[in-house]
Amino acid sequence: MTGRGDSAPRRHRIEIEAGPAFEIASDEDTLLRGALRAGVPLPYECSVGGCGTCRFELIEGRIDSAWAEAPGLSERERKRGKRLACQSRVLTDCRIRARIDPQADVPIRAVRARARLESRREITADLAEFSFRVPAEARFFAGQYALLHPPATPGARAYSMSNTDTEPGIWRFIVRRVPAGVGSRALFDRVRPGDELGLDGPYGHAYLRAGTRDVVCVAGGSGLGPMLSVTRGVLAEPGTRQVRFFLGLRSQADLGAADELRSLLGPRLNVTTVLSAPESAAPWSGPTGFVHTLVDASLGPDPARFDFYFAGPPPMIDAMQDLLLVRHRVPFDQVRFDRFV
Ligand SMILES: Cc1cc2nc3c(=O)[nH]c(=O)nc-3n(C[C@H](O)[C@H](O)[C@H](O)COP(=O)(O)OP(=O)(O)OC[C@H]3O[C@@H](n4cnc5c(N)ncnc54)[C@H](O)[C@@H]3O)c2cc1C
Ligand code: FES
Repeated sequence: MTGRGDSAPRRHRIEIEAGPAFEIASDEDTLLRGALRAGVPLPYECSVGGCGTCRFELIEGRIDSAWAEAPGLSERERKRGKRLACQSRVLTDCRIRARIDPQADVPIRAVRARARLESRREITADLAEFSFRVPAEARFFAGQYALLHPPATPGARAYSMSNTDTEPGIWRFIVRRVPAGVGSRALFDRVRPGDELGLDGPYGHAYLRAGTRDVVCVAGGSGLGPMLSVTRGVLAEPGTRQVRFFLGLRSQADLGAADELRSLLGPRLNVTTVLSAPESAAPWSGPTGFVHTLVDASLGPDPARFDFYFAGPPPMIDAMQDLLLVRHRVPFDQVRFDRFV
């Protein structure tokens, strides 16, 4: 134990078997966030207990789980002693068995900040853009996400930035109000302009990489946010690469989301919107069906000439992975995505 008295944050030493050691501010960080902040890239995707990528084993020491039932672990895995680094609170110095993932070694380190809501702009009946200001410069890559702490919500919620970090101190998020969702409802119902909440970021490795191939962005619902950010990033590049943007929505009631792309339209951006469940009573002459089917029909025989970015609900992500990685054998390093678990 390396406690330093009442006022200083408690710090504990974590040793990874056959790997590096680091110190963690255990009152403030989960094991995952402390490791990433110390420059030790433990594997992760969602940061919120849903995906299971951050599994590890405790060899020695004491660790508490912030969310014992997190769906990222099966009952069987729990019984076999597996834990989730993103839900682990460190109570003593520890030794753990965990993988190191070079992909998680993102050059911008996450920072914690108090974020003040500057404005909220409605996009559709259940989608809004929340713009937060932090006192420090905003630094993130296009396509990354941050962890927000809405009031009266256990744990953090992951939301992807929809802007790029060229707006000093501004982090914008496009959030869907989930009908029975605790965190998204708290954001919509309890956070007013001028209110502050905790923000920690950036996280995620599905961010825009430099390159020469044209880019395909595929967004399902609120997956619009990070894909807008990636598109903005590409269009701000001095190069000539183009973006083909596929937006999957449910019905005509969601079409306000497509308007978010309007100001970016031009010779380097082509947008196709597809509705999966159009209402028969409202006009719609565009494509219908699932967005991945439209992507498949549109890209021709050699999809590997594109770099792919996609974000949205798990069924869409599974379908896109199957399409690109299994059926078309697009190289893995040309495919980047965030699954909104
Ligand atoms: C990488 C990533 C990026 C995302 N980006 C966006 C985005 O840009 N826009 C958007 O609208 N949505 C996004 N989401 C989804 C978002 O994080 C929430 O899952 C969604 O808003 C529903 O949250 P909720 O609290 O309303 O619903 P709930 O059903 O109350 O909560 C679901 C989420 O909260 C976590 N959670 C639930 N209970 C607990 C608990 N007790 N302790 C800790 N965690 C808990 C779950 O893992 C899950 O992430 C993203 C998700 C991920 C993983
Ligand atoms: S990163 Fe921990 S469960 Fe997804």
